[in-house]
Amino acid sequence: MTKHRQLMQWVEEKAALCKPDQVVWCDGSQEEYDRLLKQMVDAGVAIKLNQELRPGSYLFRSHPSDVARVEDRTFIASDTKEEAGPFNNWRDPVELKQTLLSLFDGCMRGRTMFVIPFVMGPLGSPYAKIGVELTDSPYVVVNMRLMTRMGEAALHMLGTDGDFIPCLHSVGVPLSPGQQDDAWPCVPVEQKYIAHFPQDRSIWSFGSGYGGNALLGKKCLALRIASMMARDEDWLAEHMLILGITDPQGHKAYLTAAFPSACGKTNLAMLVPTLPGYTVETIGDDIAWLYPGKDGRLRAINPEAGFFGVAPGTSYQSNPNAMRTIERETLFTNVALTDEGDVWWEGIGQAAPEHLIDWQGKDWTPDCGRPAAHPNARFTVSAAQCPSISPEWENPEGVPIDAMLLGGRRPNTVPLVVESKDWAHGVFLGSIMGSEITAATISNNIGQVRRDPFAMLPFAGYHMSDYLAHWLQVPNWLNEQVLPRVYHVNWFRKGADGRFLWPGFGDNVRVLAWIMSRLQGRMEALDTPIGLMPKPEDLDVSCLSPVPDLDQLLRVDREAWQQEAALIKKHYQALDRLPDELNKMLEELENH
Ligand code: OXD
Ligand code: MN
Repeated sequence: MTKHRQLMQWVEEKAALCKPDQVVWCDGSQEEYDRLLKQMVDAGVAIKLNQELRPGSYLFRSHPSDVARVEDRTFIASDTKEEAGPFNNWRDPVELKQTLLSLFDGCMRGRTMFVIPFVMGPLGSPYAKIGVELTDSPYVVVNMRLMTRMGEAALHMLGTDGDFIPCLHSVGVPLSPGQQDDAWPCVPVEQKYIAHFPQDRSIWSFGSGYGGNALLGKKCLALRIASMMARDEDWLAEHMLILGITDPQGHKAYLTAAFPSACGKTNLAMLVPTLPGYTVETIGDDIAWLYPGKDGRLRAINPEAGFFGVAPGTSYQSNPNAMRTIERETLFTNVALTDEGDVWWEGIGQAAPEHLIDWQGKDWTPDCGRPAAHPNARFTVSAAQCPSISPEWENPEGVPIDAMLLGGRRPNTVPLVVESKDWAHGVFLGSIMGSEITAATISNNIGQVRRDPFAMLPFAGYHMSDYLAHWLQVPNWLNEQVLPRVYHVNWFRKGADGRFLWPGFGDNVRVLAWIMSRLQGRMEALDTPIGLMPKPEDLDVSCLSPVPDLDQLLRVDREAWQQEAALIKKHYQALDRLPDELNKMLEELENH
């Protein structure tokens, strides 16, 4: 228990509001985790998988209406709409608080309120932040135990008067006495609220039990609220993986990469290089907090302690390290169940068995015309289990960043790799990022390109123009000699036949190798209107069959870029008060 008066008071106040049957403080122990899982299995909410095939692992199935983050129901309640900017859903803070107070009133009747103190960042790191989530979902508790450092350790770090970010969560379905609970209680989409209040940096999430809507340390705290803190305190909270790479000569570099959801961040973070002599180590797969270190370098920590990865498409071929990570002690959500009690999903690398139970609990056969796993099915697993985890991943000071990658799914126009001319041009490349819409987001526009600056469109907690202006400030905090370089990559360019031009996955190390040689000053680059690019002969494509068409992969098509510039202009017009520097760079691109 805690002696933190303010925390105790807040918990009491929220318990009085939500009216749970009981309040349980979570200690984060294995015993507590096992007990909650057993209770959920007994209640028919979780399925214990075959312990020989998948030791310590469980399967959950969500309600079909609660399968992903709900951006339309995600709100930023800053004082003014202006502050939230054109891309966030703004709500008046007073009105929204009123709405939420009435929704939360009595919402936990018949349930337990769990108090989850958690740390984002390595324990004892000067950069770590503490949150406390109150939730009525035991599913959230067990997931938070894998995704954060939670329980006693967090209370210890909080002490008697430390700061914490208050996070209130409810599935929104009170139970009357004797009422049978649903396996996955939640409310209809239009009644869900994922609300952020910048004034007191609090998070109020109502009506969803899924992923980023409910595990509030992740997108809500570590990105939306943290991005506002970072703006005020001169650091960066970014939707980026972090990896370490060593080349055959023993040079080491640390990179971050910002890609929108479901563009392969987890795969890149755990890459198994196909070029001999290279090794890649994983530090994080989704979020990076970047601070100016005492040495004047930009240093990154992974605020998370686990991976909440998309299962479909993950196989021993596409991501062997992820597959090995999830061989045991893993929570699966919305994947299919085999007759042997193991998991299966589309793209797992093995043909579908004759019979499965699909993600909705229905019988499934290969000819039934439905996917067996939901496209946004997930695994939750502790990062410590990852075979490629870096010995530095919990370094309290973080790792020094040498380069930052940006990218998205772009079937055309955007070449395999471009290096920015300088920092500001890197910010320009970040500001114009776009990607094809995928299943990680509920949207009717799957397949279209959406502009997603720094992959932060759904996650920047304030005006996107101010966010870009903040990025332009970064050199002021750092030693100019060791500013990270910025690269835009695109693994997803397609040829006229509709096939990917680049093999991707482990072969992406070939692009990282070029970047390494640039960082070491060993390689000339070509100056093009869109940035610095490799000469085709400088990319190592040895032993690749078929040999990729580097001319197409690296082609800068003037006409396509004119069209792109017109689209960027539209995107920029939506961003009132965009920094002039960025408008000027767009003009340069247009006039080229
Ligand atoms: C995620 C996302 O879950 O970006 O990481 O949607
Ligand atoms: Mn993400």
